[in-house]
Amino acid sequence: MTEHDKAAVFFDRFAQTFDTLYEGKRGRLMRFIDKHFRSDIYIRFAKTFEVFGDLTGKTVVDIGCGSGVYAIEALRLGAQRVVALDPAPGMLDLVRTRLKETQLLDRCELILGAFPEVMPPQGDHAIVMGVLDYVKDAGAFLRSLRKVVRTSAAVSFPSKHWLRTPLRKVRYRMRNCPLYFYDVPQIKALGREAGFASVEVYKIPGAGMDYHVALRL
Ligand SMILES: C[S@@+](CC[C@H](N)C(=O)[O-])C[C@H]1O[C@@H](n2cnc3c(N)ncnc32)[C@H](O)[C@@H]1O
Repeated sequence: MTEHDKAAVFFDRFAQTFDTLYEGKRGRLMRFIDKHFRSDIYIRFAKTFEVFGDLTGKTVVDIGCGSGVYAIEALRLGAQRVVALDPAPGMLDLVRTRLKETQLLDRCELILGAFPEVMPPQGDHAIVMGVLDYVKDAGAFLRSLRKVVRTSAAVSFPSKHWLRTPLRKVRYRMRNCPLYFYDVPQIKALGREAGFASVEVYKIPGAGMDYHVALRL
């Protein structure tokens, strides 16, 4: 089983639970944990759309779309078309359900597969949130990403933390899902080597342990 297959199997099992992170579907204890320890997912959501600016008439590619929260927001913000790709069929089922509820299905193409083995069509912007954690060869991933975007990409990278990183590694290893972590010099080098003209790194403050990165051509 490849690294991508492991991530796909893990997220396929975890799809419903993952989706409860959004839209306040969690119980009281989990909401407390999310508020204090997972605020990064809300900050990176807001920052992503800040990076893109006006999406009217644009095409957006969401790589590792999960349950489709970003893809649907891009459509709501006026994107003409969204291509959402994920290797976990359970995640794509959730996106399909959301799209039907919001009547946006005809403007979104869903692709089952792991990037970069499966390449989506080119778009103006790309979203890659919470994905590089599971990617062994980030260099190859970003070089392919460079070919997919015309203007910019918003990408999150998990940071290295003395306590949180080893604990997270152990938790995921028990579920057979390997993880990868990054620092700022590494992220800048990866972005430049992939051919992006600008690599803007933002460290999410407080509980957020991720870097939110704007890659521009
Ligand atoms: C933590 S979830 C994030 C989902 C969504 N981007 C979000 O932030 O709500 C990570 C997603 O990345 C997907 N994934 C993992 N490896 C991938 C790869 N190589 N290409 C595309 N998606 C991948 C998983 O299946 C999972 O749905």
